[in-house]
Amino acid sequence: MLEGSPWLLAHTSMLTVNQPRKISLYGNDYVMWKDIDGSIYALPNACPHMGAMLSEGWCEVESNGKSAIACPFHALRFDASGCTVLPDSNKKTLPLLKPLELIVQGDFIWTYGGYEPKIEIPSVLNEITKSYKFLGHTADRSVETDLLTMLLNMHDYNHQNGTHRDLFRITEVHFHQFVDEGHISHAYYEMPTAPYSLIEKIKKPDLLLLPTKFNAHLENHFPSFIIFYGETPLGKAAQCHFFIPEAENRTRTYVLMFAQAKHPIFMLFGKTYLNFAKVVVDQDADILSKIYPNSPQKIKLNNEVGMDWVKRNFASFPNVIEPDLSK
Ligand code: FES
Ligand SMILES: [Fe+2]
Repeated sequence: MLEGSPWLLAHTSMLTVNQPRKISLYGNDYVMWKDIDGSIYALPNACPHMGAMLSEGWCEVESNGKSAIACPFHALRFDASGCTVLPDSNKKTLPLLKPLELIVQGDFIWTYGGYEPKIEIPSVLNEITKSYKFLGHTADRSVETDLLTMLLNMHDYNHQNGTHRDLFRITEVHFHQFVDEGHISHAYYEMPTAPYSLIEKIKKPDLLLLPTKFNAHLENHFPSFIIFYGETPLGKAAQCHFFIPEAENRTRTYVLMFAQAKHPIFMLFGKTYLNFAKVVVDQDADILSKIYPNSPQKIKLNNEVGMDWVKRNFASFPNVIEPDLSK
């Protein structure tokens, strides 16, 4: 599960103030919550009394203005450092839960899951927020698959005709360039689509937003996310897909969408773009649940360089070894 990599657990907009949320990483569950002042905390999810899931409890604001998490079983309250006050006592206990270390950069909540960092947190998301507007998040879901299989799917430039055939009707993939920079890579390709009929467009007006040709620039940050940059005459979008190894055989994914309008109308389509992204992720999750794990690959297609890049980086993590896959 690539311990030592940073994982983006959430964007702050994915948390509601004083509403606990369960987060999983490396087979461990945590309860995460956001204070009224925006501070974010995470504790192991099993209550140290009798093991109830704290994420099923609620937040209570303490006299110092900070929120503590209340257990749904016997209502013991744990502060952000994992201490509680037992009934009939006025004193805080020592910490009974070890907080998960979070690194919050603006709205981005990163963690190394308690492991020693082996690769740095990429700065590109902080750059994006400077010139793009945040549109929202979507498609937050946990898929029953291992991290490697999820990453292979997301760096597969040939599955549009199968997995995503219903939405896009991509006729072919024209691969232009792959730039290998170690844990970062860029893929440039074009995908012409078969046209929709007028009747289909009238039935489903969202289809009018789909271009006749997708110009794709993928910026890959191994292993935790991919940015899909798209441009239309109305504006630019940066669609960021994140991956989190929840457990050996469970991987979470979600999308954060950023946009840069050249025309004000572009921002009005925010919901529509989010919906497209959700359909894409749902289709990916669906195929991931229909693959036999460990079946030997006897056929290789063109344009599998993204997957070769994933396999190489996975096998040599955290180092990057030859060959250079640029083409
Ligand atoms: S199990 Fe949490 S207070 Fe008892
Ligand atoms: Fe896909």
